[in-house]
Amino acid sequence: MAVDLLLGLQWGDEGKGKIVDVLTSKYNIIARFQGGPNAGHTLVFNGKKHVLHTIPSGIFHEDAINLVGNGVVIDPVIFKKELDKLTEQGVDYKKNLLISRKAHVILPTHRLLDAASETSKGKAKIGSTLKGIGPTYMDKTGRNGIRVGDLEMNDWKEKYRALANKHEAMIDFYNVDIQYDLDELEAEFFEGVEQLKTLQFIDSEEYVFQAQKAEKSILAEGAQGSLLDIDFGTYPFVTSSNTTAAGACTGLGIAPNKIGDVFGIFKAYTTRVGSGPFPTELFDEDGATMAKVGNEFGATTGRPRRCGWLDLVALKYACQVNGVTQLMMMKADVLSGFETLKVCTAYNYKGKTITHLPYNIEEENVSPIYSEMAGWKADLTSMSEASQLPKALNEYIDFLEKELEIPIKIVSVGPDRKQTIFR
Ligand code: IMP
Repeated sequence: MAVDLLLGLQWGDEGKGKIVDVLTSKYNIIARFQGGPNAGHTLVFNGKKHVLHTIPSGIFHEDAINLVGNGVVIDPVIFKKELDKLTEQGVDYKKNLLISRKAHVILPTHRLLDAASETSKGKAKIGSTLKGIGPTYMDKTGRNGIRVGDLEMNDWKEKYRALANKHEAMIDFYNVDIQYDLDELEAEFFEGVEQLKTLQFIDSEEYVFQAQKAEKSILAEGAQGSLLDIDFGTYPFVTSSNTTAAGACTGLGIAPNKIGDVFGIFKAYTTRVGSGPFPTELFDEDGATMAKVGNEFGATTGRPRRCGWLDLVALKYACQVNGVTQLMMMKADVLSGFETLKVCTAYNYKGKTITHLPYNIEEENVSPIYSEMAGWKADLTSMSEASQLPKALNEYIDFLEKELEIPIKIVSVGPDRKQTIFR
């Protein structure tokens, strides 16, 4: 059976966690394929908010198997906190949570290296979540990393020590003021590792292969967004993994010809956390309203998110790179009350009008060209049927579908599972 993918099409925080949670009842297996605890997937149901960082968003459904794939990087300390929270909430995760032996482990010194690297960059910093993501993927591609499967070997602590020593020398090399107590950090790390080892470690690509053969339905859950992809994002202001569809192939071992639907999630406007170009960013009252109404603060770091109008040039690019088959528009409710809405349909790029995403979208090269549309006043948050949506919102949706040539199948009108309109 083909594997469906669910991906963010912007700079992350599109609302992937909510949609995975809504769709989970249709799938046997939910699998994360990249990223790590830099992600914050928020789910709201029964009046409670839950934030997951590494654990797939199907964990609250008793019947779903949740797989952390080989493309993911795991911090045992943060993972333990997530598991402890699940226990508090009465979730019996042991039978439903599987970990790939090939996933890489984030060490305490990876986090320190992240901080040292960012500090040394000064104003040019990436705005990393400082969870050690970049340094861990660097060790993966540099062939030095420690994988989950290593934790089952007797000599893994020797390997750990050698790598941590090397990291300490690298931190010294940065010559920045980073205060840390490695003994303390290691104590919580080893505690986290012990708890991780109580879970089921598997050869996940074989598991995924057999599951497909047995006609099990699988949803691959992406983290971050396409514009943060290491290859296709706004480099160097990106994360260190492939967040796009191809990442699901390498991050789970899915053959490209076994990909089914590709669900592309986007917000009705645009947000970004951290540094980097953002052509439609607003610095006025409209941006402030989006941030306030949309409660735009990072689920992982609490940092305020930058807000702006929908950028169709960037969205079209993300749809192309991912082969999106269905779109899901989030946070439509946040746009209620705007007299006029703007959508960026082209860029003025060095004096020329272009409709594709160029190599460089820094402010000095690119300015957005907007189409204006009428807004709507109605509060959408209690709506549950497509027939209830205001005319101006339907016109907004029709416009996007026509421009993107992909149907918008879900319109989300609030954070709760129930605030989801299927079209
Ligand atoms: P890192 O992946 O933590 O190194 O962060 C690199 C860039 O990606 C920074 O701009 C972060 O703010 C951004 N980023 C990483 N993870 C997420 C996410 O889950 N949502 C939104 N932005 C993210």
